Amino acid sequence: MICYAKSMTQKPVLVSAIKPTGDLHIGNYFGAMRQFVELAREGKYRPFIFVADYHALNSMQDADEMRRRTREIVMAYLAIGLDPAEVTFFKQSDVPAHTELCWIFDTITTMPYLMRAHAFKDAEAKNKEINVGTFNYPMLMAADILLYDAAIVPVGQDQKQHIEIARDIAEKFNRIFKEDIFSLPEPYIMPEVATVPGIDGQKMSKSYGNVIPLFASRDELAKRVMSVVTDSGGHPMSTAAVDIGCPPPKNVYAIHALVRSKEELETIYAEHAGNYKMLKELLIEDLDSYFASIRAKYDELKNDFSIVDDVLARGKQEARTLSEAKMERVRHAVGVV
Ligand code: TYM
Repeated sequence: MICYAKSMTQKPVLVSAIKPTGDLHIGNYFGAMRQFVELAREGKYRPFIFVADYHALNSMQDADEMRRRTREIVMAYLAIGLDPAEVTFFKQSDVPAHTELCWIFDTITTMPYLMRAHAFKDAEAKNKEINVGTFNYPMLMAADILLYDAAIVPVGQDQKQHIEIARDIAEKFNRIFKEDIFSLPEPYIMPEVATVPGIDGQKMSKSYGNVIPLFASRDELAKRVMSVVTDSGGHPMSTAAVDIGCPPPKNVYAIHALVRSKEELETIYAEHAGNYKMLKELLIEDLDSYFASIRAKYDELKNDFSIVDDVLARGKQEARTLSEAKMERVRHAVGVV
């Protein structure tokens, strides 16, 4: 019997989320998820960690896939060691206040301001057809964060601008409506894993096809690691993590440093310099054992979806209660009630 009663003391709030698009990868894990676990265990914050399904709808428009991947994210949250007794888990779409507040933020934000967002500029540079939801993405994310008065938002570097935008919106709203409704969130980004490199040295990303999946089988791990790019030049867009101080093969080393101490690695990489095959085999071994228990827990959860459904049903109520209290103040401040 799991006890879900959370402490009612006033702790600062932690908010974060993941989009249910594509397989989770070790960039998600080291860049953000591991921090969720550490911060939740510390017990200093009240964590709200959700599945950003409405954000995902911008790029994933397949109902079965949405349902499957949403469950997978929750299973992953549980498998990495987050405890439903301490963390409120929910689906963004289960809490209507997110989209309601997003609309209100839309009305106080200008188009030129949003056109400066990195994600929009990248999509534009690639001549992608950009839907309104993608353009508006930072507004929904600001609502996600500000609704709960988040004090910190643990994320990877690629999300930093979104948090800056949330801060801007909070200040603007408070100024326009002359009330201190929203507080300013701080990003929580661990410098050494702010941008985890993929197998080509670029940022690890679902959209670059360069990931090592978090729940990869050993065979899959072996396949991915064996295709880590080892030419000395590295990728033209390689990340700082790869460029600074990694001995060759630097793409292999940069990933290895996620799961082994730098001291140990320095000795190993010096002793076996040039033996790329051996170093890759060792990396496969190390990744496999590092993630073995998380993978086992994930496989166990796959057998019983009722655990996930139960956790989401409870989280929905908790998130609705808190966000509705905030929305009552917001509606009053803007004058619709
Ligand atoms: P998403 O789903 O793309 O990624 C989830 C988290 O993983 C981090 N991440 C990385 N960190 C380091 N190195 C990498 N290579 C790497 N790849 C991904 C991301 O920075 C992120 O922290 N917009 C968000 C989801 C979101 C959200 C929110 C986050 C929606 N609402 C409110 C925080 C608060 C996103 O697309 O993350």
